[in-house]
Amino acid sequence: MTERSAADEARIAALTAVVTGAASPRGLGRGVALRLAAEGRPLALLDLDAEGLEEAAEQARAAGAPQVLTARVDVADAASVDAAISGLEEDPQLPAVGALVCCAGIADPTPFLELTGESFLRTLSINTLGTFHLAQRVLPGMLEQGLGRIVAMSSTAAQDGGGNFSTSAYAASKAGVEGLIRGLAKEVAGTGVTTAAIAPANIDTDIMGGRLEGERREEFVARTPVGRLGTVQELGELVAFLVGPYGGFTTGATYNLNGGLRVG
Ligand SMILES: NC(=O)c1ccc[n+]([C@@H]2O[C@H](COP(=O)([O-])OP(=O)(O)OC[C@H]3O[C@@H](n4cnc5c(N)ncnc54)[C@H](O)[C@@H]3O)[C@@H](O)[C@H]2O)c1
Repeated sequence: MTERSAADEARIAALTAVVTGAASPRGLGRGVALRLAAEGRPLALLDLDAEGLEEAAEQARAAGAPQVLTARVDVADAASVDAAISGLEEDPQLPAVGALVCCAGIADPTPFLELTGESFLRTLSINTLGTFHLAQRVLPGMLEQGLGRIVAMSSTAAQDGGGNFSTSAYAASKAGVEGLIRGLAKEVAGTGVTTAAIAPANIDTDIMGGRLEGERREEFVARTPVGRLGTVQELGELVAFLVGPYGGFTTGATYNLNGGLRVG
């Protein structure tokens, strides 16, 4: 193997970061987009929610992103993902894709005996297959340029089975994300492409089944060993490291961001 250069990886900062799930105003994808925008990273923001994407793009431009492209996409649908990424690739203003951050996802609180095959598969299709669709579509370009970072949101549920606002289908879908991220890391090791999963918990976003306030907030805080909820900003900082110039010597790992809910 030819020795790679850590310094060469600094060029990642000039390449486009694709962020899925960026439409949700209080969501992790939005936070990631704005954190990367503040660094002056070119962005492509993807989500099902076109209106939310427009607001995200406006905020990202205001925060400092030199180029921001949006595309409405259903991550569960390979053809939709292909069309969105092809659109980015054809835009002469947008640099090549250097990083992919998969934040699109859903939670499902349905108890096990009430799940149907269809609803189980829906969660897997968005959370797990969606990550696969995106990663598979951007990987050839990353391999060609010898540089790429793929980061996907898992969840503490992958480790502890969930239960906050999610049950077994969600836990299974996120365990799948972690397996995918590990397997891909090994397959592409040495090419300049690295992967990571982040397993958050207890960050107050819309996926928690309503705002964490009042008694519900107190319950969540009481369950979190560090004594508070996590913030979208903290998640954004971790992603910024992973997709930044110094993120290239970690691959296949899962980063817990859970206030001590699960250690190890
Ligand atoms: N908030 C937390 O504490 C927490 C904890 C563990 C894991 N996560 C994970 O982080 C990710 C982001 O969650 P969030 O908290 O920002 O939730 P959120 O509900 O605020 O945002 C999710 C986004 O995904 C988009 N989306 C849903 N289905 C889609 C599809 N088929 N195609 C394209 N976009 C789609 C939604 O429109 C929304 O913008 C999810 O994968 C979630 O499972 C969050």
